[in-house]
Amino acid sequence: MEVIKTIEELQNIRKNITKSVGFVPTMGALHNGHISLIKKAKEENEIVIVSIFVNPTQFLPNEDLSKYPRKDEADIKICQMCKVDYLFMPEVSTMHTNEEVLIKAPQNSYVLEGFTRPGHFDGVLQVVLKLFNLTQPTNAYFGKKDAQQLVLIQQMVKNLFLPINIIPCDIVREVDGLALSSRNVYLDKTQRENALLISKSLYMAGSLIASGERNIKAVKDKIYKIMNSLDIEYVTIVDKNFNEINIIEPSNTIILVVVRFGNVRLLDNIWL
Ligand code: PAJ
Repeated sequence: MEVIKTIEELQNIRKNITKSVGFVPTMGALHNGHISLIKKAKEENEIVIVSIFVNPTQFLPNEDLSKYPRKDEADIKICQMCKVDYLFMPEVSTMHTNEEVLIKAPQNSYVLEGFTRPGHFDGVLQVVLKLFNLTQPTNAYFGKKDAQQLVLIQQMVKNLFLPINIIPCDIVREVDGLALSSRNVYLDKTQRENALLISKSLYMAGSLIASGERNIKAVKDKIYKIMNSLDIEYVTIVDKNFNEINIIEPSNTIILVVVRFGNVRLLDNIWL
C-alpha cells in the first residue's frame, strides 16, 4: 500500500491507472463500518483508494473539530490489512485555501441533520467533489448510516453529471445492535447500555411495519415509547429522496432517529 500526501502524487498515480477504481472517503478512526465499505470496494474494483481527511469545512464553528478522534497509525495498519492500494492522507492546507469556490447543497440539506448543523452538507459536498475529482473513481462507497449525506451525494453526482456510481452500503452494528460510530467511544457505561434502545426501537418499528402498519403516527409513537427515557432530538420518517411522507410505503421509506447523550449525538436509521 502506498500512502499519498500530495495532490501531485495522487494525480500522477491516477493518470496511469486504467483499471476500475473503488473509492472510500473517510475521516479516519476506522472501525468495522468503514472496513465493510473498504471490503466491498475491494470485491468490486481492481484498485481501491481510501482517503482519511478530517475535513474542517463540514464542522460548524461551535463543533469541536480539534477533539475529533485521530488514529493515523492504527488506520494505516487497518488499510494495509484490508489490502488497500492507495491511502490518501492530505493536510488541511493541501485540500483547502482561504478563498475558494464553494458548493451549495440544495434546500433539502437544511432539514434534519442540516437543520441542526446548517452548512454542514455544503462542506461535505465540497470536499467529496474535490476528492472525486482527484481520485476519479468508477465506484464510490458510502454508508447508509449517514443517510442524508448519501442521498445528497447521489443528488450531486446526478446534478453535476459526474460519471461515478455511488454504492450505498448497509449499516454495520455491534452484536447487541448499536450502530458503529466514531462517537461511541464518548459514551459512559450507562449511556452505552441506554443507547441500545435506539436500535431496539427501530427494529420494533420495522416489525410493526412488516406486520402491516402503514400509519406514520403509530410507528413514531412506538419508537418514542421505547426510547421514552432518552433525550430524543428527532424521529422522522421520509422517502428515499428525503421527502416527508404521509403514509409508509415499505420499499421507499427511511426511519431516522437522533438521540443525544450529553454533547454526543447518535444517529441511526433503517431503510425499509
Ligand atoms: P466518516 O464519518 O469517517 O464516514 C465514512 C463513511 O463510513 C461514510 O460513508 C459513513 O456513512 C460510513 N460509515 C460510518 N459508520 C458506519 C457504519 N456503522 N456502517 C456502515 N457505514 C458506516 O462521512 C464521513 O466520514 C465524511 O462526511 C466524508 C464523507 C468522508 C466527507 O468528509
